[in-house]
Formats: sequence, structure tokens, C-alpha cells
Amino acid sequence: MERLGTETAFSVLAKAKALEAGGREIIHLEIGEPDFGTPDHVVEAGCRALRDGHTHYTPTAGIPELREAIAEDVALSRGIQVRPEQVVVTPGGKPIMFFAILALVDEGDEVLLPSPAFPIYESMVNFVGGNPVYVPLRQENGFRFDQEEFEANLSERTRLVILNSPANPTGGVLTADDMATLAGILSEHPTVYVLSDEIYSRLLYTGDFASIAGHEGLGPDRRTVILDGFSKTYAMTGWRLGYGVMPPDLAEQVAKLQVNSNSCTSAATQHAGLAALSGPQGAVKEMLAEFRARRDQIVDGLNQLPGVECITPQGAFYAFPRITATGYSADELADMLLDEAGVACLSGTAFGRYGEGHLRLSYANSRENIGRALDRMNELLSRVVG
Ligand SMILES: Cc1ncc(COP(=O)(O)O)c(C=O)c1O
Repeated sequence: MERLGTETAFSVLAKAKALEAGGREIIHLEIGEPDFGTPDHVVEAGCRALRDGHTHYTPTAGIPELREAIAEDVALSRGIQVRPEQVVVTPGGKPIMFFAILALVDEGDEVLLPSPAFPIYESMVNFVGGNPVYVPLRQENGFRFDQEEFEANLSERTRLVILNSPANPTGGVLTADDMATLAGILSEHPTVYVLSDEIYSRLLYTGDFASIAGHEGLGPDRRTVILDGFSKTYAMTGWRLGYGVMPPDLAEQVAKLQVNSNSCTSAATQHAGLAALSGPQGAVKEMLAEFRARRDQIVDGLNQLPGVECITPQGAFYAFPRITATGYSADELADMLLDEAGVACLSGTAFGRYGEGHLRLSYANSRENIGRALDRMNELLSRVVG
């Protein structure tokens, strides 16, 4: 159990809530979830499903109509062929990480990971006895891989490569050209699997979404596991609904892991997901437009703070400013912001060693609160930065 890591966002949220219980007023920029409500028609579909008696177990890999709808949606959005047998529906996208790493990685296998990255990748690789190999994402490079560095880190022992675009915590996006180069590199390593975390694929501000799975020999029929879900796109974090799309033989193993753990995903939640996929997409567009306005607001504000420098994120809803010029470490500054300014955010180190020197601020909060948070940060930094 000592090998297992955690997700600091949940512990900072707990600390912020404890401060609130003691009477402090905290602005929450730490947790990565849309502040919008789930679209009404989706909520209604979930309620209707309960009233219609969908209160029982479902097939382990998901109800057939949802697996079909997901297969169609993923095929259309990535320009690939997908069959429903390749889809496993899970309570959130996170279990796909857990299951895919458990199924694919043995003791001593190497797994290439971006750093900084979602902390659960590293946690799970360590848990199964694999060796994480970190490929840095640097601000100078728009938080994209240096492709030569990526290639140099692949070895005979590499079993799995993890990609995440648009990315948490940086908001960086791998372009279509990046994906083509990566696909070329991976074609020289035909036994390596890819876990492509595409949970933010619909939260993209410029250009078209590019997936590694669209490249020859790297489809989810061969060796890529696409992770996606409903939490971010449809503001459904609390419903717990996600999925993996993968080769059918791996899908069977992943379903076996699910039968040993969750049995299946909540029936009503799956019906709500079906309504989300097949219904009007206007709410997603509106959410994206609002996120874009907030992104511009927060990036502009951060760049005016003493010692802070922030590039414009291309996707997701996180800003990842560099704060080294403040003279404080990321952990110190995150603590000071919470304790002294009442602004909860995360230290970049919560996402691995290459996150040092940065903070992660989620702009899934109102423009008013973002403005107030920037004012409070300015007040603190103007006082403490020499
Ligand atoms: C990169 C990334 N992948 C996956 C997830 C998991 O999302 P969920 O399990 O809520 O679908 C998150 C959530 O924060 C994330 O940031």
C-alpha cells in the first residue's frame, strides 16, 4: 500500500473546507470539475430511468445501447472504426487508468509518463511494481513533448506509454503534427501499448482534436486504450461515468477486473449518459465559450502579478503559471495563498517533480470569483515578493 499515491486536489479541498468550517471565506481554484450543473435533459433522463425501474445491475461492460452510442461517437470524433465490444463503461474515467495499468503492466515494466501529469498514472504504475519513466513537459515548449527526448526514453522494457491531451495540469495540447511524429516513433516499437487519456478532448480552444488512435497500427483495435468520459464534457463528475475503448481481448480482461470490483456502472447513470451523447450539444458549446472567457481573464490577470508568468492554455480548464520569480517554492506559495489569502490552488509538485516552480489554478469557477482570487493574490504577492 505504501507504493500507492494520491490526488492532492482532494486533500487541499478537505483543508479548505476545514478553514471554511472555522469561518474563513475561501475561493476554490483547486478542484478540477466544471462548476456548471449537468444539462437539464440529462438530469431528466437519469430521473426517468430510476422511475422506469432501471434500479438493477447491468451487464458488466455497460448497457448495450450505451456501448453502441459510445462506439459511434468515438468512431466519428476520431475518424476510426470502433465496435461496441471494444467499449467498457466504468464509474468515471479513472477506473480505466486503474484497470488498464493493472491489466498491462507487470513488475519491472517501464511506463513512459508525461511530467507534470495527473498523479494517478504514477501512483498506479508504482502500485503494480512498474517503473515510471518521466518525459518532461516544459513551458518553453508549450507543455508538449520534446520528441527526441520522448524517443530516447523508450527501451526494450517499455510496456506502456501514457498520453494526455488536452492535459491536466498544464492545459497543453499535442498537435496533429505531434501525434504524427509520436505515431512514427511508436511504429518502431510495435509491442508497446498506449493509454491515451482523452477526457478533455471536447474542451479544446483552438484547432481540431488529434488522437494517437487515428494513426495506422495505433487504433483501439490494435494497441491503444482510449480513456474518455462524461465528467468534464457534460459536467457530470458526481454521476461517475466514463469509458475505455480498447482491443476486444483487453476489453474482456478489463471487464473481468470490473466484475471483481464494481460489478457494473450505475444503471440510471448510464441512461443519463446515453441522453448526454444522443441529445442536443448546445450546453457543451456554451460551457466551452464560458471557459474560454475565463481562461483569457485568468491568464491576463496572472501575467500582471509580481513574479508570475503564464502561457495561454489551449485546452482543459487549468492555468499552470510559472512562479519561480516570486522566490518561493510551489508548495510554499500554494500554502501561503490558502492560509493568508484564502485562495485554494494546487502546487505543481502535486503532479510530479517537473511541476516544481508552477501552480495549478482551475478556472472552473465564476468570473467574479476568479477576479476576486486574482485581487487577493495580487495583494499577497505585492507584499511578499521583493
Ligand atoms: C487527466 C484526467 N484523466 C481522468 C480524470 C478522471 O475523471 P473521472 O474519473 O471523473 O471521469 C481526470 C479528473 O480529474 C483527469 O484530470
